[in-house]
Amino acid sequence: MGTGHLIGLGVTGSISAYKSAEVLRALQKRGYEIQPIMTAEAAKFLGPITLQALARRTVLVDQFDLSEESSISHVRVADAMHLLLVAPATANVIAKFAAGIADDFLTCIYLAARCPVVLAPAMNSNMYVHPATRYNIGILATRGVIFVDPEEGYLACGWEGAGRLADPDRIAARCAEVLEGGSLCGRCLLVTAGPTREPIDPVRYVSNRSSGRMGYAIAAEARARGARVILISGPAEAELPAGVELLKVETAQEMRDAVMARLPEAEIIVKAAAVADFRPAHPAPRKIKKSSAGAELQLTLEPAPDILAELGGCKGERILVGFSAETSPDIEEARRKLEQKNCDIMVLNDVSRDGAGFGSDQNEVWIMERGGETVHLPLQLKTQVAARLLDFIEKRLSSTRSVSP
Ligand SMILES: Cc1cc2nc3c(=O)[nH]c(=O)nc-3n(C[C@H](O)[C@H](O)[C@H](O)COP(=O)(O)O)c2cc1C
Repeated sequence: MGTGHLIGLGVTGSISAYKSAEVLRALQKRGYEIQPIMTAEAAKFLGPITLQALARRTVLVDQFDLSEESSISHVRVADAMHLLLVAPATANVIAKFAAGIADDFLTCIYLAARCPVVLAPAMNSNMYVHPATRYNIGILATRGVIFVDPEEGYLACGWEGAGRLADPDRIAARCAEVLEGGSLCGRCLLVTAGPTREPIDPVRYVSNRSSGRMGYAIAAEARARGARVILISGPAEAELPAGVELLKVETAQEMRDAVMARLPEAEIIVKAAAVADFRPAHPAPRKIKKSSAGAELQLTLEPAPDILAELGGCKGERILVGFSAETSPDIEEARRKLEQKNCDIMVLNDVSRDGAGFGSDQNEVWIMERGGETVHLPLQLKTQVAARLLDFIEKRLSSTRSVSP
């Protein structure tokens, strides 16, 4: 039980603000102390007295109101908390957190907090899928903020879709996981990300359009679940999640060597990098001059190391996850690859679709398990794909024998 832990419960101006009382009770049942913090808008939906009575603590609303015990500064509150949960979290507060705006008690506490942060969004489904909201959620997730995704269903505004606040018990369970060490606590996950660069000469290279965002999202999610994470990355455009160990590489050979060197530590390996299949066979030691190359320059390519196949041969009891980026996704072909390369899970992604795959924040994927089902995840944020993939990995971990890394 969570006795001794203080959770700051932020409540914002959503129609589902009344459910924060249930969230508070669910957390108390797990033994946590709760410090409620409400935005001024939230206080229009739910009287602070409700949360005050339940939490037996002054609800913090206005940091300039000296009649409250709110000579309490936001810094002192932030320091005392072991976790900050915002449930429900409006589109507005998510945007403010992403932008670093600090114009009320809750947003100041968020910026001053050094503890884990969990957000449970609730809003109209159109607001939830709006590119601005997707973008802000993506930014926060890559900074290590943990999201409890809203549920699908009939919304108060009359719309059907994703946006309803997650079940209070599910929110409390996620907070407990984070506080008690996380579901991957004690596990080591190695993830590769980004493209590789294969030199033609010292200034030119052959590469691909991978941004690295999928692998970085997996690293952030695994870290948020308590895993020790080793991220081996080619030149990527993504932001490094807090608490993740980064090893930078350039070529497929360097990536292969780094993966093999760190393999003994890892229990889970996720190969999300877009490693070159072919590389120039004879990279020139000096820059090839335009004048000396003539009208045409012929490049001979040779196969680059197949890291996934090599891992498949030596993985032992480890869980191996491969990615297959295709412009015409073929589930049967991906399943054959899963078997051939001795993977446990294969993620097939469609990189031809507009707004998905390389360079995008979103992905449409099929996750297929060896000896199990294939699940289609329609277009969604890479951070959400990462969370679903980690759920698959955890399910697999619980059904296989654990190895000591
Ligand atoms: C009746 C009503 C219901 C609302 N429900 C939501 C909601 O569920 N989610 C949301 O993001 N905004 C919702 N809003 C809009 C927010 O209240 C508005 O953006 C407000 O500025 C949020 O302030 P806060 O984030 O500081 O609490 C609602 C507004 C009204 C009037």
